[in-house]
Amino acid sequence: MSNTSTLAGKAALVTGASRGIGAAIARRLAADGAAVAITYSASPEKAQEVVKSIEAAGGKAIAIQADAADAVAVRAAVARAATELGGLDILVNNAGVAIMAPLADLSEADFDKTFAINVKALFVASQEAANYLPQGGRIIHIGSVNSDSAPFPGLSAYSMSKGAVAGMNRAMARDLGPRGITVNNIQPGPVDTDLNPATGPFADTLRGLMALGRYGSGEEIAGLVSYLVGPEGSYVTGANLKIDGGFDV
Ligand SMILES: NC(=O)c1ccc[n+]([C@@H]2O[C@H](COP(=O)([O-])OP(=O)(O)OC[C@H]3O[C@@H](n4cnc5c(N)ncnc54)[C@H](OP(=O)(O)O)[C@@H]3O)[C@@H](O)[C@H]2O)c1
Repeated sequence: MSNTSTLAGKAALVTGASRGIGAAIARRLAADGAAVAITYSASPEKAQEVVKSIEAAGGKAIAIQADAADAVAVRAAVARAATELGGLDILVNNAGVAIMAPLADLSEADFDKTFAINVKALFVASQEAANYLPQGGRIIHIGSVNSDSAPFPGLSAYSMSKGAVAGMNRAMARDLGPRGITVNNIQPGPVDTDLNPATGPFADTLRGLMALGRYGSGEEIAGLVSYLVGPEGSYVTGANLKIDGGFDV
């Protein structure tokens, strides 16, 4: 647990947190003092590793299987998190997929799957979470710099989805502002995960586009989440915030 415990007494749900950025966010919010629920779809062992690492550090965590492509499962996961954690103060919509292919090769099924997981699930989870979030509640979406830039071919579906998140974010902040709930979209640049390994085929191209010339870590993204969901982030809402090592500046 951190010395500050800025989130003591709070409950958070992080979607897609069995691996990668989501796992780093879950660990950080737990270190800040929150009780944390995570969702996963295909990696139960990895999800349990995240839970156990949080418990080993003195925190509380539960894992819930919920395919983000299944709206019924997403709603049920939000409700279960709120019930088992005794409420819900923070929702982090992190689960996402990147299906990349040239326009001619992207199928409509690829497009629909991308939209279901990267956009509709965020809408559904936020709508359900709004039934529980109190004054001071927080919603974070994990978007991408690819909402505004496509540095190589194959990003039609992925960029579409992250652009949709940026628009939805602004509108959701308007809807929930009167209740004192903030809504923000964190837009990472390249982060070293299974989705975009620092040793992958695009890595050198991406490094060349960044002022810092390196990939970010999940922990660096989690630090921004921690700020936005903590007490110091209370006046930030509707923001689409890039955290990208100076990508394409
Ligand atoms: N890495 C980057 O460079 C980068 C850059 C910008 C934005 N992002 C965004 O950051 C978020 C996390 O990316 P990441 O790099 O950490 O990806 P990742 O390493 O592939 O991890 C994805 C996580 O989401 C979960 N997930 C995937 N499909 C799911 C589904 N249908 N239902 C529920 N959970 C699902 C996975 O769990 P299971 O294994 O259990 O399915 C896993 O925990 C995504 O929204 C991504 O678009 C990433």
